[in-house]
Amino acid sequence: MKVLAILYKGYEAAKQEPRLLGTVENELGLRQFLESQGHTLIVSDDKEGPDSVFQKEIVDAEVLITTPFHPGYLTRDLIEKAKNLKICITAGVGSDHVDLNAANEHGITVAEVSGSNVVSVAEHVVMSILLLVRNFVPAHEMIERGDWQVSDIARLAFDLEGKVVGTLGAGRIGYRVLQRLVPFDCKELLYFDYAALPEAAAKSVNARRVESLEEFVSQCDVVTVNCPLHEGTRGLVNADLLKHFKKGAWLVNTARGAICDKDAVKAAVESGHLSGYAGDVWNVQPAPKDHPWRTMKNPLGGGNGMVPHYSGTTLDAQARYATGAKEILENYLTGKPQTPANLIVAGGTYATKAYGQR
Ligand code: NAI
Repeated sequence: MKVLAILYKGYEAAKQEPRLLGTVENELGLRQFLESQGHTLIVSDDKEGPDSVFQKEIVDAEVLITTPFHPGYLTRDLIEKAKNLKICITAGVGSDHVDLNAANEHGITVAEVSGSNVVSVAEHVVMSILLLVRNFVPAHEMIERGDWQVSDIARLAFDLEGKVVGTLGAGRIGYRVLQRLVPFDCKELLYFDYAALPEAAAKSVNARRVESLEEFVSQCDVVTVNCPLHEGTRGLVNADLLKHFKKGAWLVNTARGAICDKDAVKAAVESGHLSGYAGDVWNVQPAPKDHPWRTMKNPLGGGNGMVPHYSGTTLDAQARYATGAKEILENYLTGKPQTPANLIVAGGTYATKAYGQR
């Protein structure tokens, strides 16, 4: 059996730090496990274009393992060429890099390590909210430059206490963000999701559901995006929706870059309609050098909290998703049923309700 893994390159860091398991160098710890059973493992970060390792090797691979941090984009076209492909394993959470409808049509299973990095992301979201609301990044840059002008920073620095914060998507990550915000004494915690939180869960964080997306964003000082990318969420935060945001609101997106319209977000930050935008996910990864989200700033020179995609790939998270990916692989090899919560599509249909209402 041929297993193809598309991972990000770790270079020197991965040689020095073996806990960087999700890298090309450390191969999710799978090589010995697979080769001792007579299987072939091909690992690469080379994924773009018809001559890439990914596009050449996928043709006869039975298993594809890839990671949202450096995704091998499994398009319909590639699925049609991948005649042996039976299962795609996401080392992490979020399987939008696979054309899920095409996977269904071809009977390919898509499984991810559900829950493996949801705390890692929720912590990053809380950090990003704080760094935007408190105007942290320009304050630090000022210090590095050797300057000291408190009023230039304080003019756009606020407390999180007393603000309205809402999560678009209240699943594993969205709910954990709400839980972590409780001690900040926000004015209100809101959520927008077609799936209502269980009553006890909503009550324990005192979160109110808003059923219209426009109304939801118009009530929030901070919006955090925590839903998967699918047909119903691609470009959901676009110029039309941004008009409904409060002037000066902050937007954090650690879900998927393509949920937010690249140019509309840039325009909203640059005009000051949004005071800031932060996150770690980009519409294409790696993001091109000239991607506007790298450098966009609000009119006062701040409001950008963008980083490379790493919130869910802390060393703690890597240990969990490497173990989980191996378990999924082991189940596949031994014919054991997969843990239901890990299945995204299986047996020609969606196994989760999180990828859109059908
Ligand atoms: P989950 O499946 O537990 O929750 C997703 C929630 O989004 C569900 O409650 C679902 O009903 C809701 N949802 C789906 N479509 C919606 C829509 N149109 N409007 C409102 N709500 C909608 O997933 P989890 O674990 O919370 O992860 C969410 C996403 O976060 C992942 O799919 C992935 O894209 C992203 N993620 C990012 C990471 C990072 O490193 N930046 C790491 C892990 C996940």
